[in-house]
Amino acid sequence: VTAQNDSFEVRASAPGKIIILGEHFVVHGSQAVAAAINKRATVSVKGTTNRSRVRVGRTLSELDQVDGQFVAVKSVANETLRFLNAADRPIDIEVESELPPGSGLGSSAAVSVATAAAILRFFGESASESKVSSLARYGEGSVHGNPSGIDVATCLYGGTIMFSKAQGQKTIVPSKDIRFIVAFSKIPRNTSALIDRVSKHRRTYPVLFENLSRSISMVSTLGGRAIEEGDLRTLGTLLNVCQVALAWIGASSSEIEKLIEEMLSAGHCYGAKLTGAGGGGSVIALPEYSETLKIISEISKEYPYTLLTGISEEGLKFHE
Ligand code: PMV
Repeated sequence: VTAQNDSFEVRASAPGKIIILGEHFVVHGSQAVAAAINKRATVSVKGTTNRSRVRVGRTLSELDQVDGQFVAVKSVANETLRFLNAADRPIDIEVESELPPGSGLGSSAAVSVATAAAILRFFGESASESKVSSLARYGEGSVHGNPSGIDVATCLYGGTIMFSKAQGQKTIVPSKDIRFIVAFSKIPRNTSALIDRVSKHRRTYPVLFENLSRSISMVSTLGGRAIEEGDLRTLGTLLNVCQVALAWIGASSSEIEKLIEEMLSAGHCYGAKLTGAGGGGSVIALPEYSETLKIISEISKEYPYTLLTGISEEGLKFHE
C-alpha cells in the first residue's frame, strides 16, 4: 500500500442501469437482460488527517458509524480498506450521483463500483474488474441481502448484457440505437423486502414458479436477439410479457400499474414494464421514436424524474 501526498485525489464514476428483462427471476437462476444508462455516480477519494468520512451532498458521516446512512458506500469502503490492510489510513470519500436513491436505477451498485475502484487506485492497487466486482458486491449485499450480481455487472462493464448467476455476463451488441423512457414513480422501492416477497411466492407455488422462470429465461434470450436485430416491436412485446410475470410474483403495485397505463396512453409505445425490484422504483417504456417527446412532456407533469436514455457503452471510468 503506497503512501500518497495530501493533494492526491482519485475520482471514479460508474453508470446507473435499467433491467430490461428478467429481474427477480434472475435471483432464482433465470437469464436477464440489463443495460447501463446515461446517468452516473462519481466517487472521489483523498487523504485526510481526521477520521475517515463519507460526504454525500451536504451530509457528512464517519466511515465507522453504523447509522444507516450511505450503507452501500460504507460497507464497500470498509471492506476495501480491510482488503488493502489500510483500515488505519484515514480517507475522505465524496459521492455525487445523478441517480435518485430508491429509484431502482442502480444508484447503490454504481456508487459501490466507483467506491471500490477509487479506493483501490488511491492506494496504488490495480482496480481489476474481478476485484472491483467482488468488493462492490458487499455494497449490494448490505442493501439487498441476496443480490444476483446483475446490477454490479452492468454498472461495472457498461453496455447491454445478458446475465445469469451461473454464467455471469455476456455482451449484447445492439444493431441500432435503442432509447427508453424512464420514469421514477416517486415511491422508493425496498429491494430486500421485495426479494423476500417473491421468494415466499416461489415456496407457495414451486412448480408454477419453476416453469415461469424457465419462460422468463426464454423471454430474455428472445429479448437479447431482438436488441441485436433492432426489432423494437418484438422487444416491446417481451417487456409486456415480463411485466405480467412480475405482477404475478408480487413485484408490481397499483402505483406502478397506473404509471405504466399513463405511459402507454400518452403516446405509442411498443411496451412498458417496471424495472428493478418494483413495488415502487421506476418504469421503462420503449416508445415509437416520433412519439417520444409527447410522452415525456405528458408524464413529466406528474413524475418530475422522467428521462430519455440511450445505452451507455461506458462502464467504470477514472477521471484524472
Ligand atoms: O437494484 P434493484 O432494486 O433495481 O433490483 C435489482 C434486481 C433484482 O433482480 C430484484 C435483484 C437482483 O439482485 O437481481
